[in-house]
Amino acid sequence: MERVEISKLYRKNNLYENKTNEITVCGWVRSLRCSKKIGFIDLNDGSCISSLQVVFKDKLKNFEEISHIGVGACISVLGVLVSTPLAAQLFEFHATSISIKGASTSDYPLQKKKHSLEYMRTIAHLRARTNTFSSIFRIRSSASYAIHKFLQEDDFNYIHTPIITGNDAEGAGEAFSVTSFDLKNEKLKKFDFSKDFFGKHVMLTVSGQLQAECMATALSKVYTFAPTFRAENSNTQRHAAEFWMLEPEIAFANLNDIINLASRLIKYIVKHVLNFCEKDLEFLNKTYDEKLLIRLENILQTDFDVITYTQAINILEDSENNFEYEVSWGKDLQSEHERYLTEKIFKKPIFVIDYPKNIKAFYMRQNDDEKTVAAMDMLFPGIGEMIGGSQREERLDLLLKRIKELNLKKEDYWWYLELRKYGTVEHSGFGLGFERLLMFLTSFSNIRDVMPFPRTVKNAEF
Ligand code: 4AD
Ligand code: MG
Repeated sequence: MERVEISKLYRKNNLYENKTNEITVCGWVRSLRCSKKIGFIDLNDGSCISSLQVVFKDKLKNFEEISHIGVGACISVLGVLVSTPLAAQLFEFHATSISIKGASTSDYPLQKKKHSLEYMRTIAHLRARTNTFSSIFRIRSSASYAIHKFLQEDDFNYIHTPIITGNDAEGAGEAFSVTSFDLKNEKLKKFDFSKDFFGKHVMLTVSGQLQAECMATALSKVYTFAPTFRAENSNTQRHAAEFWMLEPEIAFANLNDIINLASRLIKYIVKHVLNFCEKDLEFLNKTYDEKLLIRLENILQTDFDVITYTQAINILEDSENNFEYEVSWGKDLQSEHERYLTEKIFKKPIFVIDYPKNIKAFYMRQNDDEKTVAAMDMLFPGIGEMIGGSQREERLDLLLKRIKELNLKKEDYWWYLELRKYGTVEHSGFGLGFERLLMFLTSFSNIRDVMPFPRTVKNAEF
């Protein structure tokens, strides 16, 4: 018997309404009401936010059993879809038979009671069965698809960069080490990485950028979209130890080109999600943040301002605000500064460009002032940095000089340096923190709530 997802029943002009052919729907029981002769089940299969009202009558041979079925149970229902123009819901599903695939018990945590988001994090294995989290994860899926669609249609090639790498691309020393040594063996005191699996010290990647640059200087326009790992010990609402990063990298492109790309990409994703996740967004708008939809709609009309780091510092220095962290030229912008700029001054996302070279990674292209680099961060109200990128230093002599200044070992970067030796070219790229984007798309302020199984400090249960 054909199993039909509930989402297909809710499509306009669906093929199933008021037909005599029976179909099967499957899902998990959200709630149940029952009298002696008739019962109603709210059935949800996660294919869309809407549940299906299943109606069953005492002619069902297992009526007794079904009328006592627990919330959370998984069932399969054979029946027909009947329109109910006078009722609250569009239609209901009249069951001719119901079979229980998996019963549930009365301690099922997702009963009617509303739980806190904190509690939900402790039941990450079940929380996707709620409207809130299923909406978020459907939006996550849709936004991923939008990224691929936008880039593929613009002739980007999707490349896969390694997860295990010998380079800490950002040089921030926040990489997790990877080893095949038996670390549980207490006798193992000293590591000789030359005896380890790869014959050298390797890490989980903090960014696929360096490899993406190799591919961009061959395929012109590429992107990698993959898990990224950082052992930052910052227990904030915006940091995860494992997160997804989209990294487009483009040959023949300068800083302006990637600012333009980032703007178009963000708008495209927002538009896509508004179109394809309408019901989920409406639900989040109604339940959590009544300004969500307006904010997303507004993005489509917004021109994102571009200011230099120096201008940003001037604005911050002139403000009356008492910042916790000192503002001075040469110091990195803290989240409070980024939020002040986007929330109080510009009231929209902005790009900040041309940061001091000393607070940015070695690969960024030096500007003519010799103090700043062609970097760009895209900052969002409520979130802070969502995108970090730059034009890359394509001039071998300047790159070597920078590597030396930073006490990096040029031998570690021999292949990266060869890109500058053989057919070097101006190129640029950025990294978009996918979960930060999702925080914006859903208006959830904690990164732990937009990832199915978040990994953060002291947290890798599921
Ligand atoms: O600014 P970042 O460190 O840039 C890079 O890694 C570059 N190599 C990217 C590139 O040019 N190809 O990181 C990029 C983005 C940040 O703007 C932020 O949105 C996100 O990645 N990000 C994190 N997201 C969640 N948890 C963390 N711990 C994150 N660290 C960075
Ligand atoms: Mg950054």
